[in-house]
Amino acid sequence: MAKKKAVKAKNKAKASKIKVKAKAKPAKRPALKLVAKPPKMSSKPPSKKPWGKDGKALDGVKILDFTHVQSGPTCTQLLAWFGADVIKVERPGVGDITRGQLQDVPGADSLYFTMLNHNKRSITLDSKSKQGMTVLERLVKTCDVLVENFAPGALDRMGLTWERIHSWNPRMIAASVKGFGPGAYEDCKVYENVAQCAGGSASTTGFLDGPPLVTGAQIGDSGTGLHLALGIVSALYQRNRTGRGQRVLCAMQDGVLNLCRVKLRDQQRLAHGPLKEYTQFGQNIPFGEATPRAGNDSGGGQPGVILKCKGWETDPNAYIYFITQAPVWEKICDLIGQPDWKTHPDYAKPPARLPRLTEIFGRIEQWTMSKTKFEVMNECNAFDIPVGPILSMKEIAEDPALRATGTVVEVDHPTRGKYLSVGNPIKLSDSITEVERSPLLGEHTDEILTKVLKFTPREVAEIKASGATGQAPKAQAAE
Ligand code: COA
Repeated sequence: MAKKKAVKAKNKAKASKIKVKAKAKPAKRPALKLVAKPPKMSSKPPSKKPWGKDGKALDGVKILDFTHVQSGPTCTQLLAWFGADVIKVERPGVGDITRGQLQDVPGADSLYFTMLNHNKRSITLDSKSKQGMTVLERLVKTCDVLVENFAPGALDRMGLTWERIHSWNPRMIAASVKGFGPGAYEDCKVYENVAQCAGGSASTTGFLDGPPLVTGAQIGDSGTGLHLALGIVSALYQRNRTGRGQRVLCAMQDGVLNLCRVKLRDQQRLAHGPLKEYTQFGQNIPFGEATPRAGNDSGGGQPGVILKCKGWETDPNAYIYFITQAPVWEKICDLIGQPDWKTHPDYAKPPARLPRLTEIFGRIEQWTMSKTKFEVMNECNAFDIPVGPILSMKEIAEDPALRATGTVVEVDHPTRGKYLSVGNPIKLSDSITEVERSPLLGEHTDEILTKVLKFTPREVAEIKASGATGQAPKAQAAE
C-alpha cells in the first residue's frame, strides 16, 4: 500500500515537472512524425486485367502430392483448383489404390479416383528404389509443399524424414493427414468411419433407441482434407514472412471433433440440466452422462425435425426439415391453420413449446403431408420460415442451379467418357476454377522429369532403365 502511494506521488511530481517545462518554453507545434514504419506496399501495382482473368490464387505453387485414397487427395484437389501445380507421385503399375476400387467401367479409372484427383499431373515412381529417391529429392527441392497421408511412419521408412526434407529444402511445407495425433493411438491406420467413431460423431448420430451411426458426409476424410488445405495455405502465408517451411498435421480424429464441437458444447451443458431442445426432454426420457444421440433434432437452439411430405409412402426422400424458428412462429401458426397457438400460453413462447415439441411437430406434419416437399419449401420461404427439402443424389445431379454455378460439373475422360463430379465448392471471384479430368497413371512422367525437374535426356534414360518409373504409359494414355 505504502509502495503504491509512493509511486503515485512520484508520478504526480513527474507530471508537474512536465507542466512547468511546458510553461517555461512556449510549445512549438511538433512536426508530424510517423511513429511506426508505414506498411510495405506491394511492389506490384494492382492488376488491370478483368476479374477472373488474371490467373489463379495459387499460381506458381508446386505441390508434391504423395496422397492416396480420399483425405489427402481432397486436399490437393482443392489446391489444384486454386491454381497450384499438383504433381501426384504414384507407385508404378498400381498407382493410387482407388484407381481400381469400386470400378464401374471395366479397365477405366474408378469414379472414386477420378472425382478426387482433378487438375493434377501423375508421375509414376518407385520411391523405394535408388533412382526413385533421386527423383524424389529433385521433387522436394523443386516443390513448395509435400502432402502425404500414408500410414504413420511410412514416409520416414521411405527415408523422407522431416529433417531430411527440411535440409533439402528449408522452404518446404510438409503436410500430413494421420488418423490420430500424438498419443496412445498415433500409430494406428485409420479410415473414414474409424475417424467418425473416434471423433465423437457416431456416438451422437442416430436415434436414441438405436446404435451409433456414421454419416454419409465424409467428415473424416474430406473434412480433414479441407482442414489440411487451410493449414497449408496458412503455412505458405507465414513462409512469406519467415522464409521457412514448417510441418502441418491434421489428425482425422481432431478434424471430426472440430466438426462436432456443438456436441462437446452439449456435453458441458448437461452438467447444468437436461438439454431442453432435444426431443427426449419432451418425452420425459432422462439424460445420461454423455451427449445422447439426437435423431433429427436440430443442432442449434432452434427446434427442428424431419417431417413427412406428400408421397412419403413410396418416395424415400419425400421429407422436409422443418425448423420452428422463434421469430417466425406466428407465421408458422397461420400457415398450418393453428392461429390460436399464437396467443395460447402453452405454445406462444419458446420455453412453453419445448416440452410439447412432439405434439407441435405432429401438427405441423399433418400440414406438410398434404404438400410435396417443394410446395412446402416455396410456401414456407415466402414467409422466411427456414425449411430444407430432403434432396436425393438424383435430384442434386439434375439440379440446374448447381450445374450453373459449377458445383456439379460434367467432365470428359478418355477411357471412361463423360461423368459427373462435384466442382469446387469454394468460389473465388478473381480465381475461377476450371475442372479438368484426373490424370491417367503416369501420364505426365516424361514431362515432369524433363520440364519440371530438368533431367537431361541421358538422365531420363537412366532413370527409366532402372525401372524407377515402371513401364512407360501406353500411347493411348495421352490426350
Ligand atoms: N513407391 C514405393 N512404395 C510406395 C509408394 C511408391 N510410390 N507409395 C507408397 N508406397 C508404400 C509406402 O512406403 C508404404 O510402405 P511401408 O508400409 O512398407 O512403409 C506402403 O506403400 C503403403 O502405405 P500405407 O499408407 O500403409 O497404405 P495402406 O493401404 O496399408 O493404408 C491407410 C491405407 C489409409 C489406412 C493409411 O495410409 C493411413 O492410415 N493413412 C493415414 C490416415 C488417412 O489418411 N486415412 C484416410 C484415408 S482416406
